Amino acid sequence: MKEPQTHTGRIALVTGAARGIGYAVATKLAQRGARVALVDLERPDAQAAGLPAQALAIAADVSSEAGWAHIGERVRAQLGDPDIVVNNAGIYPQIMLEELDYAKWRHTLAVNLDSNYFSAREFVPGMRKKRWGRFVNISSNSIGTNLPGLGHYMAAKMGVLGWVRGLANEVGQDGITVNAIVPALTNTPGTSKVPEELKRSVWQLQAIKRFAEPEDIAGPIVFLTSDDAAFVTGQALVADGGMYKIS
Ligand SMILES: NC(=O)c1ccc[n+]([C@@H]2O[C@H](COP(=O)([O-])OP(=O)(O)OC[C@H]3O[C@@H](n4cnc5c(N)ncnc54)[C@H](O)[C@@H]3O)[C@@H](O)[C@H]2O)c1
Repeated sequence: MKEPQTHTGRIALVTGAARGIGYAVATKLAQRGARVALVDLERPDAQAAGLPAQALAIAADVSSEAGWAHIGERVRAQLGDPDIVVNNAGIYPQIMLEELDYAKWRHTLAVNLDSNYFSAREFVPGMRKKRWGRFVNISSNSIGTNLPGLGHYMAAKMGVLGWVRGLANEVGQDGITVNAIVPALTNTPGTSKVPEELKRSVWQLQAIKRFAEPEDIAGPIVFLTSDDAAFVTGQALVADGGMYKIS
């Protein structure tokens, strides 16, 4: 069945798009009619070639300002200024305090959070000119868990929520929305080594008792990047199979 063409004419940029959630998002946006720039540390040529709409593969490190200057240059030259930016690239190594030196702390913050700031500096001006734009940044429901060794990651993903709210306040009058997605533990290459027992203990806390698939996270992102979500901004949409309880 052909997907509804909700994103025809849009230019979307997805980071960490070579695999996992990022690839699912890039695929879904392309199926909905967007032209997509896929960014990853190594150029995701094969992934871009397999998409059903025009796509561009870019190699860049999203943790640096220079990386974003390169992304901006490439995407403008090949596709144009992005209407949609999905800040998905992330790392989540488990590192206990004793091993967490400053370089490791900074790196986690840089990939998961600094990237969100750099992307806004690079692409808000173009969105303002068009008076239309969408940012979706990926947080994590691990921010509410008792898992050890993830303090650096939780700090970054909490930071994503604060940044989303703050940026939304500055660009709301320009037709630009900024939101976060808060996924559950999801079946991606990044979580392939998580022990089965731990995965199961997580599902037991969800209303929907199965492992989240990347497409489960991509769906809400498609909504937030559509015209339908024009009045939704500064929000964190929890996509965790019903683990989070409103109370
Ligand atoms: N998988 C989960 O359980 C889960 C849960 C909650 C949130 N998240 C978040 O979702 C996002 C995607 O997670 P995933 O599980 O699909 O990850 P993954 O490890 O499977 O894939 C991440 C991709 O990002 C790329 N990447 C890493 N650092 C980069 C950098 N500096 N510059 C450019 N690209 C870089 C990697 O090369 C990889 O292709 C991350 O932000 C993660 O924190 C994941």
